[in-house]
Amino acid sequence: MGRWPDCVQIKEVGPRDGLQNEKKQVTTADKVAWIDMLSESGVQEIEYSSFVHPKWVPQLSDAHDVGRQIKRQPGVRYSALVPNMKGLELALEAGIDGASVFMSASESHNQKNINKTIDDTYPVLSEVISEAKKVNKHVTGYVSTVFDCPYEGKIKPEAVIRVCDELLDAGVDDLSLGDTIGTAVPSQVEALLDVVLTRYPKDKVIMHYHDTRGMAIANIMTSMSYGITRFDSSVGGLGGCPYAPGAAGNVATNDILYLMHGMGIETGIDERILHDAALFMQNKLGKTLPSKSLVYEVADQQLV
Ligand code: HMG
Ligand code: MG
Repeated sequence: MGRWPDCVQIKEVGPRDGLQNEKKQVTTADKVAWIDMLSESGVQEIEYSSFVHPKWVPQLSDAHDVGRQIKRQPGVRYSALVPNMKGLELALEAGIDGASVFMSASESHNQKNINKTIDDTYPVLSEVISEAKKVNKHVTGYVSTVFDCPYEGKIKPEAVIRVCDELLDAGVDDLSLGDTIGTAVPSQVEALLDVVLTRYPKDKVIMHYHDTRGMAIANIMTSMSYGITRFDSSVGGLGGCPYAPGAAGNVATNDILYLMHGMGIETGIDERILHDAALFMQNKLGKTLPSKSLVYEVADQQLV
């Protein structure tokens, strides 16, 4: 391998991280049609919804129906966010290949987001992880606020490591490290990865960037220079965390594809299908999505 990898793996989180922060409720039928489009794109994993408390995230209160109605393509892992045993039971009924558990490196964000201290969260997630593994589900452990917290400011790498160690000891297959509020710059990524990658293998680490300050692509490049090849992203750049004030959407899958394909790095994803999927949701939401390359793709199309 040269300086850059030959291929990267993208997890599409738009149906979960994207829609959880949209004010407008998208109908179940539209979500299903949209996820079915994404399933045809060649993406290897889709986080299709979230089995959190419906009062906390009403946008995704139809997770069960979505899980039951989507057409599952062979080779695609369908995962969902799961906060506790109740969520896992519902998710297993609806059908999942993977469970994504989540907690934060910062105490205040953890409490605002899941109503528990960090220490009280470990046993809850530990049970979810072990029950999910018993039925052969892939389990990803999200760690939020790994760089900055909306309540506590800068977070030290040691705080991130503490949570990652617990999640790995509990049996997660991999870790997704979240720039939840999208404020990190590449030197913060370097400071974290310098520590993280001395402890864990590269292939266990996924980076999850939100793009509030437009730094996500720079942070992805920095992560790739460390050998990281797994990223989460959201069609059109939808999204944000409802319990992280000011957080914008995830880095747009469309922008990652522009970057990777332009650099000759394979993703296995069809840009045209992703483009159509972004326009589909843009129309349903009635607003322009933030993806930069999407804007230009539309402009280029109009010129032809
Ligand atoms: P709680 O109120 O502390 O829950 O909420 P509880 O365990 O005390 O239970 C209270 C009631 O809720 C009980 O019902 C439970 O059965 C019910 P009752 O007995 O009173 O009738 N309940 C549930 N019902 C349905 N589904 C469930 C469930 N759990 C309990 N799963 C809880 C705790 C974790 C549930 C709540 O705080 C919650 O749902 N939080 C979710 C917040 C959220 O979704 N945030 C956004 C996702 S995280 C994110 O976006 C970051 C990420 O993208 C990475 C990054 O960007 O950094 C992943
Ligand atoms: Mg997120």
